[in-house]
Order: sequence, then C-alpha cells, then structure tokens
Amino acid sequence: METVLALGLGYTLGSIPFGLVLTRLFGAGDIRQIGSGSIGATNVLRTGRKGLAAATVLLDAGKGVLAVLLAARLWPGSEGLAAIGAIVGHCFPVWLGFRGGKGFATAAGVLGALAWPVMLVCAAVWAIAIAVSRTSSISSLCATSAAPLAAWAMGYPAVAAVMVAIAAIVFFQHRANIARLRAGTEPKIGSKG
Ligand code: G3P
Repeated sequence: METVLALGLGYTLGSIPFGLVLTRLFGAGDIRQIGSGSIGATNVLRTGRKGLAAATVLLDAGKGVLAVLLAARLWPGSEGLAAIGAIVGHCFPVWLGFRGGKGFATAAGVLGALAWPVMLVCAAVWAIAIAVSRTSSISSLCATSAAPLAAWAMGYPAVAAVMVAIAAIVFFQHRANIARLRAGTEPKIGSKG
C-alpha cells in the first residue's frame, strides 16, 4: 500500500506543470506551441523570459525535493518510489494529455534530496558539459548518465538503482533531441530553435 501511496504522491507533485502555469500566468503564451514544445525551463527560456525560466527550474526541482522529503517523513524507505513517481508525473502529466517535460530539473531535485553529494558531482558534470557544448540536451544527458554511476561509486547503491530508472525515462523523453543531435540540428541554449 505504501508503494502505491509513495508513487501517487510523487506523481501528483511531479505533474504540476510549472513551466506552463508560469508562462500562461505572466503572458508568455502557451509554451507547448513554441520551440521543442516541452514544458521545461529550456523551452521557457526560448520565450526570452529568463526570470520565468529560472523560476521553472527552481519549482520543477523543488517539487522533486518535496516528493522525496514527504515520502521520507510519511513512509520511510519509499523515497525512491516517490522520486520515480515525480519524474513520471512531470513527463506524463494526466492534466496535459500525458505530454509534459523531459524530467531533468525534477531529476536534479529528487537526486538532491536522495543523496546531495551525488547531485553536486552531477551538477559539476552538467556545468562542464554546458560550458563546452552550449547545448541544453547534451548537458542534461551527460549529467543524467553520470547520476547512477556517481551514486554507485559514492556508496549509494539504492539511489543508483533509482537513478537508472529515472535516466531511462529522461533519455526516452529526449529521443527527439537525440535525433536532432545526430542530424546536427539541435539548437544551442538560448536560441529560439
Ligand atoms: O532539460 C531539457 C533539455 O535537456 C532539453 O530541452 O526544450 O531543448 O528539448 P528542449
């Protein structure tokens, strides 16, 4: 029963589409109609509204943190399930016909709550990748790939297992980005692409 509750709690929090809510609220249009169509911060940035993009990152990560911390308090041991639920909720929100974001910011949030030292390592990987590539999807995928490896190497095997599942979802959501990367047409960060 706790399994279902933790997944449901994570899903419910994860499914709050902050990128869409903020862009609508502050007159930046329907984020699903521009750029990649994703409700995530990278796409919000394509509206030119940096503040809204920053708020989207913080809130999308924050809902992941909250899902894990609430699960830890309510049903100790179910944090990993709440984390996976939050990513599924963000990527496949029932409120938006199951078409949401790509899960990276929320994955950063859940990882920060599950094992913050691992999140710091992944943040460093992300920072290096974005500095070199200037491409959001490349840096997201590099940091996501690093997460299970770093968790394992740093002595968090249970977190590593959770991050394998989350990485699978994040990669699946980036399938169009991966196709564009292979074709050499993926836009750089901040471009309108
Ligand atoms: O974290 C999302 C990013 O990796 C890709 O976003 O909008 O360029 O598909 P987008």
